[in-house]
Amino acid sequence: MIETARLILRPWRDADREPFWAMTCDPRVMEYLPKLTRADSDAAVDRMMALQDAHGHVFWALERKAERDFIGFCGILPPRFPIFEHEIGWRLAHHAWGQGYAREAAEASLAWAWANLSVPAIMAITNLANTRSWGLMERLGMIRCPNEDFDHPEVPEGDPLRPHILYRIQRPQPAIT
Ligand SMILES: CC(C)(COP(=O)(O)OP(=O)(O)OC[C@H]1O[C@@H](n2cnc3c(N)ncnc32)[C@H](O)[C@@H]1OP(=O)(O)O)[C@@H](O)C(=O)NCCC(=O)NCCS
Repeated sequence: MIETARLILRPWRDADREPFWAMTCDPRVMEYLPKLTRADSDAAVDRMMALQDAHGHVFWALERKAERDFIGFCGILPPRFPIFEHEIGWRLAHHAWGQGYAREAAEASLAWAWANLSVPAIMAITNLANTRSWGLMERLGMIRCPNEDFDHPEVPEGDPLRPHILYRIQRPQPAIT
């Protein structure tokens, strides 16, 4: 469990399935993401639980400390298809946008990664049209790698969500005194 000033990042629970499905039904949240059925949404929670057990980190469930409510996810996924690097990612319920929660959770996730994973860098991917997502990447100090733009192989050809852009942040170097 990771605690920030306003948030808790924690492993997923069965009780998260319902509020996660509610987010999944919100077209504003899913504008740049593949549409999911209820079964897909539950399967995504199952995958998060399994990855958490196997690796000790995942896109963690995100809870506000004051309200103790589930507001989405943020965290670090282990390397997997199609880019075999650690990935930071986020998805918040619409009512939780515009308050700096995603940034707060992402900064805590990066700090966790530098402290607990021996990786040189963390990457993030999104769709060019998803300005809120790549805006956050830039606020975090991530750098776009335009020569690594790619078509996501799990999105059908011709789908406007298929072209992806990639950002990366390098492990901070200790200051030389
Ligand atoms: C991408 C996403 C997580 C970004 O969320 P966000 O709330 O815009 O991002 P931040 O946490 O950085 O918040 C920034 C906003 O909070 C405001 N803010 C308010 N209080 C703040 C505070 N205490 N600290 C920092 N920012 C604060 C900022 O001014 C900024 O406002 P703006 O949106 O009017 O410019 C969110 O839009 C989302 O979940 N989208 C749908 C899912 C998705 O597309 N995921 C990514 C797939 S690749």
